[in-house]
Amino acid sequence: MSEDNSRRESKVGFFSRRKLFSVLGFGSLFAALGALSNGIVAVIFPRLNFEPSLKMAVGRPTDFQTGQMKLINNAQVYIFKDSQGLQAVSAVCTHLGCTYKPFGKTGVPDHRECRAQDLGADDPNAPVVEVFSFCPCHGSVFCRTGEHVGGPAPRPLPFYKLEMTPDGRIIVDKGANDLSDGLSRASGEGVAHNLYLDEASGQMVSGPYPTGEETDFSA
Ligand code: FES
Repeated sequence: MSEDNSRRESKVGFFSRRKLFSVLGFGSLFAALGALSNGIVAVIFPRLNFEPSLKMAVGRPTDFQTGQMKLINNAQVYIFKDSQGLQAVSAVCTHLGCTYKPFGKTGVPDHRECRAQDLGADDPNAPVVEVFSFCPCHGSVFCRTGEHVGGPAPRPLPFYKLEMTPDGRIIVDKGANDLSDGLSRASGEGVAHNLYLDEASGQMVSGPYPTGEETDFSA
């Protein structure tokens, strides 16, 4: 009887150990398969950040001459340099996103005049400044201040913050907001349209609204 019992107990112990080992074995197998499948998924679908960067290098101070207007294609901005400093103006029409024509003094019919913004753009006594750009898609017209004076564009062109890195590169920051004047508030993004990057200090400083009169459009 006691021999039967001990045989039964050892049989039970054998089966429970076998069960334990098989559970452990399957557990390890599933864990390994899980890790393997995670690895395969990571290879096939790598975690990529599709958020476009809002900060881009546009060059070094020596890349820009006073009086120059330069399109920076990868950042989609025009960089202007005049005696006040540098400005970055969005190169994207605020209507449906076409790239508009470079600024100039050539005639574009049917648009309100561009007036010097410092006196108030609607002040009839403010001098007319015929420096503007137009969009070939549907004919929107923008003044050098970014103000929209013709066509279907609903907002002025945004101006963006510029900053200098310690190693002397100029960075445009499309994510920075300083909506401290009427044009930037109407744009809804970027910075006030009378701010300039001062190369000496590397800071944005305020100055007069741009007229474009210092720009050499013959280049
Ligand atoms: S996209 Fe420029 S006017 Fe329509």
